[in-house]
Amino acid sequence: MQPAEKKLASLPELITALPGPKAKEIVERDRRVISPSYTREYPLVAKRGHGAMVEDVDGNIFLDFAAGIAVVATGHCHPQVVAAIQRQAAELIHMSSTDFYYPGMVDLAEKLAAIAPGNAPNRVYFCNSGTEAIEAAMKLARYHTRRDKFIAFQGCFHGRTLGSLSLTASKAVQRKHFGALLAGVFHTPYPDSYRGAYGVRPEHAASDALAHIECELFKRLVDPEDVAAIFIEPVQGEGGYVPAPVEFLQGLEKLCRRHGILLAVDEVQSGMGRTGKWWACDHAGIEPDIVCTAKGIASGMPLGAMIAKADVMDWKPGAHASTFGGNPVAVAAALATFGLLERELIANAARVGEFIFRRTADWREQHRSVGDIRGKGLMIGIEIVRDQKTKERAPEIRNRVIQEAFQKGLLVLGAGENSLRLAPPLIVDEEQADFALRTLDACIAEAERTT
Ligand SMILES: Cc1ncc(COP(=O)(O)O)c(C=O)c1O
Repeated sequence: MQPAEKKLASLPELITALPGPKAKEIVERDRRVISPSYTREYPLVAKRGHGAMVEDVDGNIFLDFAAGIAVVATGHCHPQVVAAIQRQAAELIHMSSTDFYYPGMVDLAEKLAAIAPGNAPNRVYFCNSGTEAIEAAMKLARYHTRRDKFIAFQGCFHGRTLGSLSLTASKAVQRKHFGALLAGVFHTPYPDSYRGAYGVRPEHAASDALAHIECELFKRLVDPEDVAAIFIEPVQGEGGYVPAPVEFLQGLEKLCRRHGILLAVDEVQSGMGRTGKWWACDHAGIEPDIVCTAKGIASGMPLGAMIAKADVMDWKPGAHASTFGGNPVAVAAALATFGLLERELIANAARVGEFIFRRTADWREQHRSVGDIRGKGLMIGIEIVRDQKTKERAPEIRNRVIQEAFQKGLLVLGAGENSLRLAPPLIVDEEQADFALRTLDACIAEAERTT
């Protein structure tokens, strides 16, 4: 039997104390040779996966509500994705799209160009990761507008290479000791409708955040005519799973049009159907000039894409390229992923997301530490606070919940300072969602009692 066809149980089964003996040994060896820059929250040593389930090296089976950080959209090792990868790997692994043509790359570009927001024709640039998609967008925005400044939002995460890191304003540790970043990047408050753009007036988050750009940035710090692009995550991911209000995104689009600034949406985490529509910005009906995507696009194969309006993507041969970008095997995985998303999984994300919101509707009454539950589809954040009135952040309770959940066979990650992120594969069903919620319910109650 092929490994991809071996089914795992559909709910967790733990057979050792965690971590088990084999996991312990690998974590020890990892500590000696792997870059210490990673932030592993618990000792999961993954061996194989199927659907929403992951088995570790000791034979323990976990329910995965992290999906490889919102990557395995179709679940782990979906048989159609595995078959597409195997077929393509046996036929052609690499030639390089910088110098040659690939049929699959054109097929995928046509599909992405067609689903990009708006009716204008689009072009696609392929790369290997989210950060590369953002770098490409930054370069294209400068090239097209001949302007060199950027605006990005406080709390947003756009990647860790030096260009994208200049936009990132999520955690100081991500910038510490890396010296001067790109000049000409201005950060502005994100419209957080739980806390407010300035930490006050949450009901005015959208208008306050828009006013800050026009009345502070454009009056005091940068002339709008120098700004090439505004970058925004329509749902802030690493910053805490915080959706921008619809009226804010619509207002931002208008502001960009008024000043001839490109609107670039970072859908690296929120795109490819995760929110129940192809793009999170589709919920606002806006038409950005540039859309960046990666993570969920190829079910775990490394692939990123920067999609831009055709009249914006006007750079000339030699201006930008990547040896591996649009690799045939990654593209084959993306084409299989695309079909599954289109046929069933985007609708499933919307359906199971609604189920989760219904099931958690009374959690703020049940749990004194649950401050906010927000998001769309299967991109859901639960903000954990010490006090619902003061909204004092409670990272220690949140961290405890994550550890307890792991001990019960549920994989969840944190986002931002004090939020839990629910980002399961889009293939997850209601029984699994119900298990995850019952587990979290118990873990939150326990963490509240003991932390
Ligand atoms: C919104 C967003 N943009 C960009 C990135 C960077 O992607 P990558 O890690 O593939 O470089 C991430 C990664 O978490 C992300 O969430």
